[in-house]
Amino acid sequence: MTFQYMPGFGNDFETETLPGSLPQGRNSPQRPAYGLYAEQLSGSPFTAPRGTNERSWLYRIRPSVKHTGRFKPASYQQWKTAPNIHDHELALGQYRWNPVPMPTEPTDFIAGMRTITTAGDALGQSGMAAHVYVANRSMIDDHFFNADGELLIVPQVGRLNFVTEMGVIELAPGEIAVLPRGLVFKVELIDETVRGYVCENYGAKFTMPDRGPIGANCLANPRDFKTPCAWFEEKETPCRLIVKWCGSFHVTELGHSPLDVVAWHGNYAPYKYDLATFSPVGAILFDHPDPSIFTVLTAPSGEEGTANVDFVIFPPRWLVAENTFRPPWYHRNIMSEFMGLIHGQYDAKEEGFVPGGISLHNMMLAHGPDAPGFEKASKADLKPVKLDNTMAFMFETRFPQMLTRYGAELPTLQQDYIDCWKDLKKRFNGTVEGDWS
Ligand SMILES: [Fe+2]
Repeated sequence: MTFQYMPGFGNDFETETLPGSLPQGRNSPQRPAYGLYAEQLSGSPFTAPRGTNERSWLYRIRPSVKHTGRFKPASYQQWKTAPNIHDHELALGQYRWNPVPMPTEPTDFIAGMRTITTAGDALGQSGMAAHVYVANRSMIDDHFFNADGELLIVPQVGRLNFVTEMGVIELAPGEIAVLPRGLVFKVELIDETVRGYVCENYGAKFTMPDRGPIGANCLANPRDFKTPCAWFEEKETPCRLIVKWCGSFHVTELGHSPLDVVAWHGNYAPYKYDLATFSPVGAILFDHPDPSIFTVLTAPSGEEGTANVDFVIFPPRWLVAENTFRPPWYHRNIMSEFMGLIHGQYDAKEEGFVPGGISLHNMMLAHGPDAPGFEKASKADLKPVKLDNTMAFMFETRFPQMLTRYGAELPTLQQDYIDCWKDLKKRFNGTVEGDWS
């Protein structure tokens, strides 16, 4: 089965699966076609300014009040929500992990969510959590929605389908998807085992960054974002809906599938994006811009230029800067950086940061190229070089990222990560030019 998409970012989309199922000229007719129920899904307060006002109208077989019954508590132990502090005894540090192990027990996308860090406060609708998902089983009759935030999904191993109430998103490593807060979905695996990263954004929605003097093109372009066309199923068998709400989980039993939206229109909808369509901009004579130059999506925090969370990538690109130390420089940062590697090598750390791995450089903790990376870049012949076969990313937030007990106790935590800088020696000897080797 192939699924259709509509191009554009934040458009006022419209889509119908049956002819005439989408009302025209009004949102709530007295008798919608096909006996459907009209329902609004709001992603912003009703009175939000036009630029940030988000809502969609869904025309469905049953209204969502029929997709919840009495709730019972449910337990998903590894999915944590901010504030989640003092969760472990590990001392402060720069940390790096090898990949999170794949599950050995049957595990679906929701049960396979392992939280590594949380930041801010979900109840105050600010901050984020960084998770890794691992799964080996499709959700068949189980469905889910997250009231605590939107989910940005970054697959690293394996293809999956996000079967949502507004359409189906097929996702493979190299692509990302964003599922809005409150959207009902289930996850089907195309490949046997899957792994990836998730940013759960408790704050204002991700949007495209302003480009400033870059102008009207490059970086991520709106037409490369794809929103699914409507899709529904008429399934009258037992199903469940699991809800994450203020950090706790609840489950309710249904006699039918909640994925019953026959038509919809509006600007509050899921989307996907192929990272290969990102057009990187960088230094073409000397020096190295800040990594914000590679921002794909930004979630504002209310303070201008200070993101609740940025999603930044480090894609294949040409390095051409003259008389320049080309890898990322050493730095300390008020923002907190959670990094992952989708495939290939990261230029500041050629060894040790492996695909599926994680690094965490928290607020004001120093980091930068490892000793071999520094040595190599300091002596490199500065001809144009293509950094190829690489795709790293960063969730960068204004809030300190609090490590979970799961993350602190993960056997793949590299105990010797800090040693990657131990061979950086003192080179200063009072001479302007010298043999510092
Ligand atoms: Fe950094």
